[in-house]
Amino acid sequence: MFGNSFSDIGIDLGTCNTLIYIRGKGIVLNEPSVVAVERGTKKVVAVGAEAKRMLWKTPANIIAIRPMRDGVIADLESTEKMIRYFISRVLPRYRFIKPRMVIGIPSCITEVERRAVEESAYKAGAREVIVIEESLAAAIGADIPIREPAGHMICDIGGGTTEISVISLGGMVVTNAIRLGGDEFDEAIIKHVRSVHNLIIGEQMAERLKIEIGNASPDKTIEKVEVKGTDAITGLPRRLEIDSVEVREALKDPITQIIDEIKSTLGQTPPELAADIVERGIVMTGGGSLLKGLDKLISRETGVPVIIAEQPLDCVALGAGKYFEYAKGLNNTRTIYDELN
Ligand SMILES: Nc1ncnc2c1ncn2[C@@H]1O[C@H](COP(=O)(O)OP(=O)(O)OP(=O)(O)O)[C@@H](O)[C@H]1O
Ligand SMILES: [Mg+2]
Repeated sequence: MFGNSFSDIGIDLGTCNTLIYIRGKGIVLNEPSVVAVERGTKKVVAVGAEAKRMLWKTPANIIAIRPMRDGVIADLESTEKMIRYFISRVLPRYRFIKPRMVIGIPSCITEVERRAVEESAYKAGAREVIVIEESLAAAIGADIPIREPAGHMICDIGGGTTEISVISLGGMVVTNAIRLGGDEFDEAIIKHVRSVHNLIIGEQMAERLKIEIGNASPDKTIEKVEVKGTDAITGLPRRLEIDSVEVREALKDPITQIIDEIKSTLGQTPPELAADIVERGIVMTGGGSLLKGLDKLISRETGVPVIIAEQPLDCVALGAGKYFEYAKGLNNTRTIYDELN
């Protein structure tokens, strides 16, 4: 039994970051979901943080890719290699104890993609693989009492996807997922800077702008950051100051789409559960929930309080790792009723 619990692992296979949680040990791995491979031979030269440093800066014979981009497995082979590498890093001494794995993935991925994730995990050495919705994992990880007969809304904004779910009695009542997240925030900033200032900036620069001065709700103070990029007309390097008002303007579109999705999910929620949500609030997880002022804006637009989970970036991995415990509880409930019938 002891051995079993140590070999239960929860994985958050995110488009930006992969996290692995082992029961009894906590989060043992947190790395960007990036793989660098040699062009042609497809030999892996780096994975995770090391590969991320190569992104956009690789010599001609090496390509750095984000295989899970947009929640889709754009590149099955590299996804598999990435999963295998990460797992081998955290379980080197347990090679002969095959672990059970629970993997949190966005619910908007296709059946084919879902099977591809499962297959990769089996190839990486799992003896049992369970794939669950990211928001269910996030809810378990955020310690939301989802088994009680009350409505809970969870909104996970990741890099490539946003998933909004209403959970009651341990089950998903409504789930909506869109392929839009923090990556689209970055893209919107790139587009804005290019169209307004004729300056081409990279994704990392855009992400920096978003994290440092991005703000979804108007703020009294206006912050500024200097960005560097390539002039779209002359092709020469140039610097420029961008302020937080501009960043907010650039982010308006993707943020509106997320808020519309939350509103539509609330609209699909049975009234009794909606009443619970108004009282308990919407719990936000995922890196996107950290965008300054986003919680306030969502609350203002929906009239529902918004709470950011304690460790918004860790919730999915934590919840996936605790899933077996959680599912065991569910089975017990069923057995009690089975006996009554
Ligand atoms: N402080 C912050 N402010 C705004 N955005 C942030 C902040 N910190 C991280 N992010 C963004 O969060 C995103 C990554 O979040 P997360 O790790 O939850 O995604 P993921 O789980 O890999 O993706 P997905 O759930 O879509 O598969 C990135 O777009 C990153 O730029
Ligand atoms: Mg995620």
